[in-house]
Parts: sequence; structure tokens; C-alpha cells
Amino acid sequence: MRMVGTSRSPRWEHRPAAGRRAAGWRRAARLAPLLAIALFLAACGPYNFNDDVAMTIDPQSDVNQDIFNLYSLVFWLATAVFVVVEAALIFAVFKFRRRPGDRLPRQIHGNNRLELAWTVAPVLLLVLVAIPTVQIIIKHASPPPVDAVRIEVVGRQFWWEVKYPELGITTANEIHIPVGRTAAFDLTSADVQHSFWVPKMAGKMDLFPTRHNTLWFTPRSTGTFFGQCAELCGTAHAYMKMRLMVDSEADFNAWVAGQRQAAAAAAGDQLQQGAQVFVNNGCGGCHYLEGNQNAQGRTGPDLTHAGSRTTIAAGWIDNTPENLARWIRNPAAVKPGVLMPAFERLSAEDMDALVAYLLSLR
Ligand code: CUA
Repeated sequence: MRMVGTSRSPRWEHRPAAGRRAAGWRRAARLAPLLAIALFLAACGPYNFNDDVAMTIDPQSDVNQDIFNLYSLVFWLATAVFVVVEAALIFAVFKFRRRPGDRLPRQIHGNNRLELAWTVAPVLLLVLVAIPTVQIIIKHASPPPVDAVRIEVVGRQFWWEVKYPELGITTANEIHIPVGRTAAFDLTSADVQHSFWVPKMAGKMDLFPTRHNTLWFTPRSTGTFFGQCAELCGTAHAYMKMRLMVDSEADFNAWVAGQRQAAAAAAGDQLQQGAQVFVNNGCGGCHYLEGNQNAQGRTGPDLTHAGSRTTIAAGWIDNTPENLARWIRNPAAVKPGVLMPAFERLSAEDMDALVAYLLSLR
């Protein structure tokens, strides 16, 4: 019986080895420009601030350092496995390639020792990965230290309510924590499911209605860190961002002292007009101002210190007079899906006064 493995194509038989090799190189040379273009395109993306702020491989907390170390372990083990396997493969391909005049090689049916080896080796590698993984899971699932700063975050469509129960502070979308001290978050939702994610600090943690999840980490450097809702929660999900401000101890204490004050009194004609516009348009039905009987709403963000925040619309745009006016006039044009109604009929003068008043609430 004629074996399939011994049959040869005529093409193979009639071309000398040197000619075959030359044809192979020519084919590779034709593909080279394509490869070069692919490499070039992969590198030519524009620098994007949001890409940088969302980088998880730039750990800025103890928790992310643990996770990064695990990633590194898995990455280098996988790299070692790749190199060994590919080296063996390439060696075998070249060393045992078919040469003219070769006959069917010796046929092998199983090799117990070899099979045992390539079963035990991966098991050992997986154990090597599993031990630190389980240790870190247990560590991160344990309760935070008792001196942690406690922060309650309530996910809402489409913003973050932020409360410091021990400090008597309520704010929104911008979370201040002191550097080097553990921040312990109690996460829940007032409506649908959201997910709390500050990429440089920790992994994602879901916020469910009727349930409280815990997440804690200790930031190791000061700065502003980008956060984002990471669970599809409705039309404006992509715009549900936040900022985590990691302050020095002194800056944090100053911020706390400022936030514990009642809303600033409107001083001067324009600010008084702005305060009146606020009340007349029913803003206080949804928004809260500490110490103001006309603003006791809790549907929207607490505005007691709205002027002290760097962003509006859940971290989507900077808190400037122009942006604030644009936002109040037609929030949906800035952030599609937002639940806040439009106030397009405000006169320019009323709008200026309202914006000035809100920015004075520092
Ligand atoms: Cu909240 Cu997505």
C-alpha cells in the first residue's frame, strides 16, 4: 500500500533546493511592506489624555500594586512558556523537515514519560500563579483598617453621590481623600446597577440597589485621578465620570473644613439675583443647599459647594461659567440622556446671575 506521507508533488521534485529557498524569500519580501505598515499604524495613534489616565498598568495604590505584581508574574511566566514552546517548535520544524529522498519517519504511538511531563509542568505553573492570587484575593476581601477614611458612594443615573458619614459632608462626582491613608468605600445604588472604577487605584466594583459593596485602597501619591462608571446603566452611562483627588493631609483637612460650612450667603446684587433665580426656577426641588430652606432636594447633586468642584455634569466638562451656562440652558445637549430638565427660557442676565451665584458656592 502506498503511504500518503511518501508521495511527493511534482513541483517539489523538479525544483532544486536553492530555487525553492529563493522563491520563499521573494514571497516574504512581498509581505514585508505590509508588515511594516501594520507596525507603523499600530504605533501612530495620537496621544490621548484619557488613555493615559485610564492606564491600569501605572499602579498608584497598594491594591493596584498587588494586582500589577500578579499581572507581571503571569506575563513573564507566559513569556517563558511561549519562548520555550516556540523554540522547540522552530527547532523541530527545521531539524526534522523533509529532505529529498526521505522516507516516512518512524511512527510513535504515545510516550508516557513525555505526556506526564507536559501535564505536571503546567500544573506546577498554575500552582505558582494560584498561591499569590488567592493570598491577594483574601487580603483585598478583608475589612479595611479602622483608621480608614469612610466614604459612602451612591450610584445614580448618571452621577455619583459622595458622603463622608464621619465628617458630615455630602458632595458629588469629586472625591477627596488624603494620601497615604486608606480610603474605604461603601458602594450602593439608588436606581440601577453602576460600577465604581478609578483605574490607577483599584479594580472595578459594582454598585447595586439594596446592597452594599466594599472597596478600599491606600493611595500613594497626590494628584487627580480619573474615574468612570464601568457598568452600562442607561443613555448617559459613558458620561458618568468622576475625579478622585488625592490630597496631602493638610489640603484634605482644609477641604473638609470648607465642605462642612453651610452654603455661602449671596453677597452683592448679582449674587442675590442669582439666588433668587435659583429659587424661582425650582432648582431647590432637586438640589440641596446646606442651611437653605428653599433647597432641600436630594434628586440631583448637593450644590452646597458647587463652586469648589473642578468639573460639572459628573466629571464630563470643566466647571467654567461658559460651560455652566451651556449646561443649565440645555443639559441634554451636553450630556445626552441626562435627567436634568432644560432651562432655555432664562434671560441672559438671569443666567449670568445664576452662574455667578453657583460658582460663589465654594
Ligand atoms: Cu452608571 Cu454606567
